[in-house]
Order: sequence, then C-alpha cells, then structure tokens
Amino acid sequence: MSDLLSRRVFLTSTAVGVAATRARDIAFPMRPARPLPPASRWASKPVAVASANGLRAVQKAFDMLMQGADTLDAAIEGVKIQELDPNDDSVGYGGLPNADGVVQLDASCMHGPTKRAGAVGALEGIKTPSEVAKLVLKYTNHIFLVGEGAKRFALQYGFKEEDLLTAHAREVWLHWRANLNPDDDYLDVPEAERMSTRPTGTINCDVVTPQGDISSVTTTSGLAFKIPGRVGDSPIIGAGQYTDNAIGAAGSTGRGESNIKVCGGFLTVEFMRRGMKPTDACLETLKRVVQLTEPRLLGPDGRPPFSLNFYAVNKRGEFGAASLYPGRFAAHDGAEAKLRDTAFLYERPAASR
Ligand code: GLY
Repeated sequence: MSDLLSRRVFLTSTAVGVAATRARDIAFPMRPARPLPPASRWASKPVAVASANGLRAVQKAFDMLMQGADTLDAAIEGVKIQELDPNDDSVGYGGLPNADGVVQLDASCMHGPTKRAGAVGALEGIKTPSEVAKLVLKYTNHIFLVGEGAKRFALQYGFKEEDLLTAHAREVWLHWRANLNPDDDYLDVPEAERMSTRPTGTINCDVVTPQGDISSVTTTSGLAFKIPGRVGDSPIIGAGQYTDNAIGAAGSTGRGESNIKVCGGFLTVEFMRRGMKPTDACLETLKRVVQLTEPRLLGPDGRPPFSLNFYAVNKRGEFGAASLYPGRFAAHDGAEAKLRDTAFLYERPAASR
C-alpha cells in the first residue's frame, strides 16, 4: 500500500478502542469498526462459515465481528490468510498456474448492507484478489474487471506486483507439462510423481454480524493448468458466491463450470428465500447440478465424479454446507471455530469410466 493510501486509511478510521485499532489495520475498510450492541439486543447469531481450508479464516472473521467490524471487511480479512499463504496451492500466492505456467486469480464478493458487488478475473501478479474485488465494489461504478485492466486498477490503489509462482507450484506445473503428451519433447516424469487429478481448490467465506448484516467472498487460483484466460465460477456473482442481506449468503468450491450453469450461489439463496434451511438449500442446489450435468461427465452409475461443495448462512445465523461426496467445512458458531462434516448426495465417488 502506498504512503498516500496508508494515510487515507488512517484518516478514515476513527478511534474506538481495540476495534478501531483493528479497523485501521485494514487497508480499505468498508467502514470503521463500531462498538457492538449488548448481546440481548443482537438481531442474529453471529457466524462465519468457510470451505475446509478456511479454519483460520472463520476464526479471524469471527474475531473481527466481535470487535464490531463490517461484515465484508471480516470476510475478506479471513480469506486473505489463505491468499497470502504459499502453502495453499489453490488460492492467491502459491496457487497452481495455468497451462502456460502463469498464476491467474479470480475473486468476487458481495456486501449485504450496501447491496454492492465486486469481482476480478484472470488477475496476474497481485497476491490478494479478494481485496481488489472489494475495491471494485467500493470505488467503482462497475462490478467485474478482468486481466490487464484489473491489474492496472490494483496497481493504482497501491498494490504491489509480485511473482505469484512459488517453487512448489512451478515444480508441479513442470511435472504436469512433462507428462501431458508422451510424444512431445519433454521427458515424462516417473509414474509415482504424476498428478492424478487437476485440483480446483478455492476458499469461500460467508459471514453474519450480530446486527444481521451479511457478506460473502470467494477467491481462487482456479483450475490448475487451465487454458489461459479461463475463469471459473468464483468471480461470477451468483455462481461463486451471492448475498441478499434480507435472506442469507451462499458460495461454492469445486468444479466451477458445473456451478456456473446453475448459478449456484444465487440458487442456494433463493432456496433459503423459499424457506429451506441452509444445509437443505445446498443439497437442493447440488441436485440441480446433477440434473444439468452433461452425459460425458457422468460416471457409469450416473453420478458426477468431480467435486463440488456449497456453503450457506441465513439471516438468523443458521448455517450449513453440502457436497456431492462426504466432505468437511469450517465454521465459527460463536462457541468455537472447527471443521464439521458436510451433508452429501452420494456416499462415495462414482467409479470412473
Ligand atoms: N471453483 C473454482 C474454479 O472452478 O475455478
């Protein structure tokens, strides 16, 4: 962040004890932290829910909620932990690259109280795309910036351009490329070192404040070794995540192409609008995914062999998650941050063709 922006952040944060100190730490807060009303006047049960890689994210987001932080600020600061972690090769810095060996990142977010949305796609060289998506939401009349324009936008706000390809991610990519075609001029690497699947890791985080304000964010490096320029579901508002402050929020991780076709974030919130609990809404969205899966992607038993997960919270602070096959998700329910089992459609992965 530039000095100019540091000063601006400092000036936009008012001093209200610990909460303000934390708000000042945030580069571009939606609002300064405010003291919470007494618990007897809380409208909702505060909660933070995330994909299984988000245990630290839900702890961070929940701590910030308890300091009176804004709902989106809490969610973004949570997922930034994974974006900045070189050991999470599905998100931000250290994410697995595209087929050309270039890390291209996608992210989107929605802020319930202001009904705003922001997203970036195929962003290169910036470690925290979720933050850039928040800046699109906060400072522009647009919703979605991609590629070079998204990068220039981030640089204008003081973000630093960095090489996002870690030594580990480069090695995994080189192995993938060597084994891609037995007839090319790259010698295959030993069988034991082959990658059997192409990961589509991601982090989604959905947050409800004690006042009942809701936000969601999803951020990813997308499908490993993707065709350059491919964006998945994560940066697509209504697919990778969706928030309606009157109802709830939902988001997804897993095979993005299958989620995009059902607008899964939006659909899950719509199911909750019709009265479903978060877990049931996630399961219903997965059933729609199965209905809309093209035959070439189904196993012999009619099941999709890929991975797809949905996470949801409602206005009351109830939450849940569901996946095609048994999985885990992270949640802070007010008592503790821990991993829990997802509901699921199928006991075990379909046999592959
Ligand atoms: N869900 C992440 C992706 O498909 O890119």
